[in-house]
Amino acid sequence: MSLMNGKRGLIVGIANDHSYAYAIAESLMREEAECLFTHLPGDRMKRRCEKAVKQLGLDDPWLESMDAGSDNDLDRVFNRVREDFGSIDFLVHSIAFADKDWLRQGAFTGTPRDVFTQALDISAYTYMAMANRAVPLMPNGGSMISMSYYGAEKAVPGYNVMGVAKSALESATRYLAAELGERNIRVNSISGGPLRTMSALAVGGFGEILDWVERKAPLKRNVTGKDVGDTATYLLSDLSSGVTGQVIHVDCGYSSIGL
Ligand SMILES: NC(=O)c1ccc[n+]([C@@H]2O[C@H](COP(=O)([O-])OP(=O)(O)OC[C@H]3O[C@@H](n4cnc5c(N)ncnc54)[C@H](O)[C@@H]3O)[C@@H](O)[C@H]2O)c1
Repeated sequence: MSLMNGKRGLIVGIANDHSYAYAIAESLMREEAECLFTHLPGDRMKRRCEKAVKQLGLDDPWLESMDAGSDNDLDRVFNRVREDFGSIDFLVHSIAFADKDWLRQGAFTGTPRDVFTQALDISAYTYMAMANRAVPLMPNGGSMISMSYYGAEKAVPGYNVMGVAKSALESATRYLAAELGERNIRVNSISGGPLRTMSALAVGGFGEILDWVERKAPLKRNVTGKDVGDTATYLLSDLSSGVTGQVIHVDCGYSSIGL
């Protein structure tokens, strides 16, 4: 039997077929998961997401508009999941945002308060906000993941305020895991290597990061979406039943190297 047979979950973060969330959905669906999706508000965002989901083989997907920065949107989407399905088994949080003007070398110290607040809100707080709404939908337990990056642990030039937000996301992962474990809800994050997505291109010097990782990582290559998608499926399946509160590096080993 497939790993995700009989499991249903919500995937937040497919912008197009380059998104990490797309690769995660592809892997989950290969293992027979039932996937529900959200897209950022707006016709263009809806069309892009619909096109990607269609490529996954779903002609009539469950797809809702949601700005994770809006409590009303979060309530509406999770209420609709409850009305339509009653429960879910997994949640994928694969979203982040920071004003790209502040994601370039030399632009960290001057980060304005509103840029900082928005980056932390969308990229970290929303994991808690979604977890809080997912808990009542997981009466028999469940598993959730978010996407982090090495810039949470080390200063990566240009990653700047997003690095601070990812540190908060990784910390939130541990606090959520500590609180939700007694409900048999597991909470983890994947620290993914650099992948050429729409968001990644907003980080100044991203091409150099890709080149550097390819030269230095033990596997001598960059990650693929499938590398991350398959680890996500492991974390969201019963194979990882004893794993919670962890940040798992899927980065071709880059984070294990000192020089
Ligand atoms: N691409 C990389 O190199 C890389 C590496 C490690 C971690 N990550 C993380 O992976 C996750 C997915 O990013 P990606 O690289 O696939 O890029 P992407 O641009 O394909 O996806 C980012 C998603 O965030 C969504 N989003 C932004 N603001 C939102 C909001 N207010 N409400 C709801 N959704 C919102 C966008 O709609 C988009 O779907 C992010 O957390 C990112 O930081 C990316």
